[in-house]
Amino acid sequence: MKKRIGILTSGGDCPGLNATIRGVVKACYQLMGDENVEIIGISDGFYGLIRNHCKLMKPSDFYGILTLGGTILGSRRTPYKKMQLVEEDNVDKVAQMKNTYGEWGLDCLLTLGGNGTHKTANLLSEEGLNVIGLPKTIDNDIWGTSVSFGFHTAVDTGTDVIDRIHTTAHSHSRIMVVEIMGNKAGWLTLYTGIAGGADIILIPEIPFNMDRVVEAVSRRANSGKYFSIIAVAEGAMDITEAAMKKKERVQKRAESGEVTVTARVAKRIQEATGYEARTVVPGHMLRGGSPSAYDRVLATKFGARAATLIQKEKFGFTVAMAGDEIAENRLSDVAMKTRFVDAEGMEVVTARNIGVSFGD
Ligand code: F6P
Repeated sequence: MKKRIGILTSGGDCPGLNATIRGVVKACYQLMGDENVEIIGISDGFYGLIRNHCKLMKPSDFYGILTLGGTILGSRRTPYKKMQLVEEDNVDKVAQMKNTYGEWGLDCLLTLGGNGTHKTANLLSEEGLNVIGLPKTIDNDIWGTSVSFGFHTAVDTGTDVIDRIHTTAHSHSRIMVVEIMGNKAGWLTLYTGIAGGADIILIPEIPFNMDRVVEAVSRRANSGKYFSIIAVAEGAMDITEAAMKKKERVQKRAESGEVTVTARVAKRIQEATGYEARTVVPGHMLRGGSPSAYDRVLATKFGARAATLIQKEKFGFTVAMAGDEIAENRLSDVAMKTRFVDAEGMEVVTARNIGVSFGD
């Protein structure tokens, strides 16, 4: 029997979205026969599902996309907390998404995205739609999977940034404070910092003490190393900020004029030590470009697993990596949770064992 499969990519893009789409589509054609599969591409994430921006895709639409960064479907952030609000334009988003699903006669909906996407995917699943999730994010913070596609490519890109910063930091005896994406979870900073040989790593899960950071820089200088590399997650904060409510924190930062953590850390180091401290923000470069070989393989495995779930009509799940095996978790188990770095975990302990300071 013919199956109509809707696919959308939601939230911040990352390398590997197209490779995953290709993996699902190819495996669906292979498992169920080309003539039994119709793919409906939904533009710009849940926004396209709400607005009925959908189109019937041809097999040729998926040619040559394995290596392509970004997403051929377009992506957008449609915050979960607003999904159930009927706003000024009187759009009942949940009802509209269900309408679009029905109008296109979909047998299932594949949602490729991160934590926010998984919340909405679960909501739609609870509303009776056949939903399957696929874990995407450079933050690697989706509960229940040890890895999400996009993460390792971002680690490679961030490591390349730190490698390049290393040589110039050394030449000029500067303190370089590199800001790595990740607001809530510090996985990307931790991996990039270890791979790039950062001297200090600051992540949201381990609030730092600025005095300890300054001490770590001074210790290096006292041993003749006049440069330091500090990898800082964009969501890292010091112990004083960590004890504050979000509103208070935002206000304090605005008043100080240093809105980013990297700016604050660099300023304090320069004031305290007299060494020149500079900031580097690779920003969205971490999300751009072609997926690494690792991510292409992972995306293909995840995609192929999603196809088997469709074939078995096993809905309400999201694909995951458990140990070395591809697995799946219930959307209801994953939604509303975040996978944080364990401050006592293997990566942090390893970094500490080689002398990396976490500023605590
Ligand atoms: O979720 C991925 C991510 O890149 C985070 O690391 C970052 O905090 C956020 O997206 C930035 O989002 P935007 O591109 O919408 O500013």
